[in-house]
Order: sequence, then structure tokens, then C-alpha cells
Amino acid sequence: MRRAQALFMVLLLILPAAAQQSPQVPCNAPPAGVDPSVPMNQPDRYAWELFVQVNQKAPASFQHSITYQGKTFMTNSAVWETWPDDPWTFPTNPDPSDPPKWPDAPIAKRLHPKGKGNHLTHTADLAGRNDIILDTGGEEIHRNRATFDYVIQNNLWYTQGIAAFVAKGLPANFPTDSIEVKGNWNKIKESDKSKYHWNYDEQGNLWGLVAMHITSKALPNWFWATFEWVDNPGRCDYIGCSDCFGYQPSFVPSHTCPASGNCPANLVGQIYKEPTTITPGLDSLFAKAGYSGAWLGEYRHYRLKGSMTNFTTSTGQPILLGNSVTESSFLQTASCMTCHARAAVKADGTNAFPFFGEAPTLPLQMATPAQFQTQQTTYHGAPDPNWFNSYSDFSKNEFQPTVTPIATQLDFVWAIPFQAHAAKTSTTKPSSKP
Ligand code: HEC
Repeated sequence: MRRAQALFMVLLLILPAAAQQSPQVPCNAPPAGVDPSVPMNQPDRYAWELFVQVNQKAPASFQHSITYQGKTFMTNSAVWETWPDDPWTFPTNPDPSDPPKWPDAPIAKRLHPKGKGNHLTHTADLAGRNDIILDTGGEEIHRNRATFDYVIQNNLWYTQGIAAFVAKGLPANFPTDSIEVKGNWNKIKESDKSKYHWNYDEQGNLWGLVAMHITSKALPNWFWATFEWVDNPGRCDYIGCSDCFGYQPSFVPSHTCPASGNCPANLVGQIYKEPTTITPGLDSLFAKAGYSGAWLGEYRHYRLKGSMTNFTTSTGQPILLGNSVTESSFLQTASCMTCHARAAVKADGTNAFPFFGEAPTLPLQMATPAQFQTQQTTYHGAPDPNWFNSYSDFSKNEFQPTVTPIATQLDFVWAIPFQAHAAKTSTTKPSSKP
């Protein structure tokens, strides 16, 4: 009896932690015939297909030389780096009569510190916790033609245009061929070039790609995947690394210790030295897309951290996914889909929600007390309808509750509420009605 009690206590200690771990989903065998939905049934294969597609080397006409302080550098851009970035899509001084156009020449690389927009300082959102913006890495976001055109054609690139869009009352819905990429870079040495996809910024700084998010509108709530540079410290911490397609083994468990507290600090933040072997499937994807030589060498240094196609498992357990670099300060609670579901605006077209620290009571699986001090907690699991609308009392009017909009969701694209500026002289009348 006593033993049963003890076991129960142990379970109590372990369970909340276990509930935070994303379950390891068994790999689907590829079907013999045509798969009707690769993004849904073989998400990791689809993640790699996207990776190989967007990382192809950009044509020579989209490379350019940079001369800075007497030295000349040549860019090494992949296709996604030639697409419009956030500052291109969301100009600081938007002029509604002169919308941004699809670039027909190479664009300058503009990186901003992680967690900060190109024009925003999020000290207020972070409730004074500047401590988490310490890294010296650079971040950028690029969107393909389908995504860019949708933003421009629907006037979602400046605040008044967003307000007018919201006033129409139609949900935002990006075309199914939309793709967006977020890249994180660290400064690297010339001698380390072969280990990274590298590029120069306009000051001749050499950067190595360390993290890459790719989203695609192949699915109604988008398809989500994140890749890591293979030697990122803590690459698989907390949630493990899952890849049913590109590299074996298909699951690398986290080094994270149990929630009981006795955790040597050196268990997290370490390089994952577990060997990973490329599969014939990924090998041939690279080959078919023309990857060879140094270009293939660069791109053999990335691993899929995981893909995401739903908010929860079929039993309602939140699914977590985050990158050790991009989501470093809130990885333990990160869910691409839940956080992005909160990309929403108020009737005036401005951002409706902060995205950090809104859920301070969420249970976290912590590695060390010191880490607890610097962790942000973020929403995960199914979105809460009350974030977006207030509902009249169902019990009084069961069949037709009154729905009052609070915030309008913008099809998971955070850049819209996050980056759009107000036009000074507007040709679009901002709406005051929701
Ligand atoms: C806690 C919130 C949060 C989580 C979790 C999160 N993101 Fe984001 N994401 C953002 C914000 C905010 C931006 C806008 C940043 C900017 O514009 O500078 C963004 C931007 C992006 C973009 C550029 C397109 C856009 O929406 O503006 C992509 C792609 C992206 N994230 C993918 C992912 C993926 C994949 C994951 C999961 C591995 C993820 N994100 C997890 C908040 C989050």
C-alpha cells in the first residue's frame, strides 16, 4: 500500500513534465501508390521537399558583389534570400499609392536582432525582460511571390489597409502556394564557410545560417517545419528531434533531465554528437534538384528538428515545436501553430496581442532554476475562441449566441500585425467599426 502511494507520488511529479513533451509520432510508411496528401501523411518528407526547393542556389543574376572599405565580397544567396524581406514588404513610410513591387534584382541582406522587428523594440511586450535579447545573431524573414502578392493586393502592408481589410469581415486566406521563411544567422569565420550555408551582408560581415523556419499554405492552417544547423548547442533539448524522412535515426531524444529537479546543468545546451545518417530518399532529393559540390556540402549541415500540422494530438495533448535558436527563450512551451494563430489585429489594424509572457502560470519543465529566470512562457494547444470573440451567454440563447469580435486573425502571418506601419497620408479611410 505504501509502495503504491510512493509510486503515485512519483507519478504526480513526473506527469506534468511528461504532459509537456510532444509525443514521438510513429513514422508512416510511404504508400505504394500516390500519396493523396504528402504534407499531412508524410510531413517530414514534405518539410525536406520545401527545404530543397527554397535553398536552391539563386541564379547568377541574383548574386551581387559588395564593396565595403576597399574589400569586395560576392553573395552566396539561396532562392529564398532573393524574395522580398519584411522591410521590403512593410516599408517604414508606406505610401498607399505606391505599393512595394516584386524585386527584379538582388536585394540587400538586412538582418535584425532576434526577437526585435526591424523597427520595433519589444521591451514593453517583454515586460522589461531585456535579458533574453542578448545574442548577437541576426534574423530575417522572406516570402515567396504568392504570399507577397496576397499581402500587397489586399493592402495588408500598411495599418490603414489592414483596418479596411478587417472592416470587410472576410477572413484572410493566403493562396495554397504561399511559402515563408525565417532564417537566423551567426557571424562565422572564413575558415568555417564549408560547414554552413553562408552569405555576406552589405558591410561584408560573414554569416552562417543556424536556424531555418519554413511554412507553406499547403494545409489550411499552414504547414510548419523548422531546421537546425547540426552542431547547434541544445539542438534537440526538451522536445527531441523528429525526422521520418531525411536522416536516421528518426528520433533523437532530448538530453533533458526529469522534472524531479536533480539535473546536472551540463545536460542541456550541449552539442548533439549522436551520429545521424542521410537516407537515400534525401540524397536523391538533393541530387534531383541539382545540389552538388560546395553547395551540397553547405546544406548537408542541417537537420530537421520537426514538422507540425496540428495544434494537438487526437487526444487533445498540445503539440510543441520550436527551434533552439529562434525560440531559444521559450522553447519549452513553444508551438508554432498556437503562437501564430494569435497573429491578429484590432479594428484599427494594429497588433491585438503581445506574443510573449502572456501565460505566466503554464507549467514548465525546467532544466535549472537559473533557466527558470530567463524563460518566457507561450500559449500552446488549441486556440481559445475567447481570444478572438466574446460570446453571449449560451445558456440563455442556445442556438444563436451573439458574437462580438475582439481581434481579427490574419491567417497565421505574424509579420502583418508585427511589421506594418501606418501611412502618413492615407487614401484608405480607416474603419472605426470592427
Ligand atoms: C511565441 C510565438 C511564436 C512561436 C512559438 C513561433 N513563432 Fe514564428 N513568428 C513569431 C513572430 C512574432 C513573428 C514575426 C517576426 C517579425 O516579423 O519580425 C514570426 C515570424 C515567423 C515567420 C515569418 C512569417 C510570418 O509569420 O510573419 C515564419 C515562417 C515563422 N515565424 C515560422 C515559425 C515556425 C516554423 C515556428 C515553430 C517551429 C514558429 N514560427 C514559432 C512568433 C512565433
